[in-house]
Amino acid sequence: MDDAADFGEVVLVAIPFFAYEALPADRLSGKIVVDATNYYPGRDGSLDFGGLTSSEVISGHLSGARLVKGFNTMYYETLATAGKESEEDRLVLFVAGDDDEAKTTVSQLIRKIGFAPVDTGTLRDGGRRQEPDSSIYNAPMTEERAREALGGAA
Ligand SMILES: NC(=O)c1ccc[n+]([C@@H]2O[C@H](COP(=O)([O-])OP(=O)(O)OC[C@H]3O[C@@H](n4cnc5c(N)ncnc54)[C@H](OP(=O)(O)O)[C@@H]3O)[C@@H](O)[C@H]2O)c1
Repeated sequence: MDDAADFGEVVLVAIPFFAYEALPADRLSGKIVVDATNYYPGRDGSLDFGGLTSSEVISGHLSGARLVKGFNTMYYETLATAGKESEEDRLVLFVAGDDDEAKTTVSQLIRKIGFAPVDTGTLRDGGRRQEPDSSIYNAPMTEERAREALGGAA
């Protein structure tokens, strides 16, 4: 995990949520960290976040990092196969976060791999919109459909 944390300026976290405290906060300080995790009580245990989103909890642990929630809504096989060269009818990958510059960087990476980025808002509100059981979770959709599903929130 230390090698992965050191590797680049943008680091994607894809571990079971319950293990987030294993993330090396010192090594990830200053980096853009993409939180692709999801909280599932059945897997991760029943936890009380005190009203925070799971991404805010991770952001609290990684206090020096620039956290963007992203890539968490898409099944990995779709992510591996559905990126398109053409910009027409691309599927959406969502981003949420409190650091606009970090969201822009992650959005550029999303475009590079053939998807359309859509900003859902802050780590609190957008993070909530991207959680399991939301209308945009694990539901591959184009940008037009995504904006309808978000009901003007994006
Ligand atoms: N699978 C999907 O399609 C998908 C899509 C979107 C988001 N997600 C989210 O992404 C995260 C990972 O999902 P996954 O399906 O890839 O799960 P996974 O196969 O169980 O976990 C992948 C990684 O987590 C690491 N890991 C497991 N337990 C750990 C621990 N106690 N401490 C540190 N690292 C640990 C594993 O490291 P080792 O190999 O060293 O054990 C492995 O690299 C989850 O939060 C999931 O909800 C998954």
